[in-house]
Amino acid sequence: METLHQEVQDYYGKELASSADLKTNACCTLTAPPEYILEALREVHDEVQAKYYGCGLTIPFDIEGLRILDLGSGSGRDCYIASKLVGPNGYVVGVDMTDEQLDVANRHIDYHTEKFGYTVPNIEFVKGNIEELDRLGLEKGSFDLIISNCVVNLAKDKQKVLDDAFDLLKPGGEMYFSDVYSDRRVSQELQNDPVLWGECLSGALYWNDFLNFAKKAGFTDPRAVENKPITIENKKLEEKVGDLKFFSVTYRLFKIEGLESDCEDYGQALVYNGGIKGQEHGFELDDHHYFPKGKVMAVCGNSYKMVHDTRFRSYFTFHGTWDTHYGIFEGCGGAMPFAAEAVGAIQDCC
Ligand SMILES: C[S@@+](CC[C@H](N)C(=O)[O-])C[C@H]1O[C@@H](n2cnc3c(N)ncnc32)[C@H](O)[C@@H]1O
Repeated sequence: METLHQEVQDYYGKELASSADLKTNACCTLTAPPEYILEALREVHDEVQAKYYGCGLTIPFDIEGLRILDLGSGSGRDCYIASKLVGPNGYVVGVDMTDEQLDVANRHIDYHTEKFGYTVPNIEFVKGNIEELDRLGLEKGSFDLIISNCVVNLAKDKQKVLDDAFDLLKPGGEMYFSDVYSDRRVSQELQNDPVLWGECLSGALYWNDFLNFAKKAGFTDPRAVENKPITIENKKLEEKVGDLKFFSVTYRLFKIEGLESDCEDYGQALVYNGGIKGQEHGFELDDHHYFPKGKVMAVCGNSYKMVHDTRFRSYFTFHGTWDTHYGIFEGCGGAMPFAAEAVGAIQDCC
């Protein structure tokens, strides 16, 4: 374990000077963020941005006032975006194990505090291993949101990361994170390749293993928000990985009491009334739940709770009770997270 951590620290602390040094495009965000996030990003210091190695968009909607933890915060890009968006009443904690990355992040706290107009910083960076979150002095049940961008794949004990994250969340909180997944289990030989591991490829979780880990941790109904195939664009490495396919997927994992393992129909419905920045015309819960503003939408019990028992509650009107069960919720599908064109699968809907 120690060798692995040392190799990852050397890769991100010494080998890579900036994202231009990456040997594949696995650690590259594929989708442009919404305008209000781009606005915040424009205020983030250039040095922080140059050392961004994320693979997705890990900032969900409606985060003002939240207490956020970023696992593997690197040079701090996502933390600083979050610092701006949570405002002076929110707070952001970044955890990373690599000194060089932490140095960059810490060097710019004053710069951003002043830039965002805060009298005191609303951010801190902690040195630590995300596989030992229970040893960092972080209070259990104290975070509204845990984010992470292209890091869990680099951890050896992914189950432990998810277990600890679950414990650190408040009830109704969520883990919203982007990571690299594979369409089959990665061989030990490829896992032993330090470049493939450092580039966030060979530590990728086979998506079905991830779903089982997440459920075991207590995140009963993982929801994919976005997924994109990763093209390696490096002939030598492409040959090494063979038929394996990799995907960047953003998941949201809610910590909600009473979520069920399947989508069940209680005859409930929701109406999104608007009010969330960036979601003016409709609310996107995940890649198969979009609630157009003002439209009555039938939902399963789990989707109802994901809105009713979380920070999104005040933006919705709720219809129905839990009194009668009508069976399986019609239209619910499996949670195949991969882009249909890449694996010949049909995108599911629920
Ligand atoms: C691909 S980079 C992503 C950094 C950052 N999230 C970003 O988007 O720029 C991976 C980061 O995770 C950190 N990391 C990897 N494994 C870790 C672990 N077990 N504990 C803490 N940090 C870790 C590395 O030091 C590195 O900064």
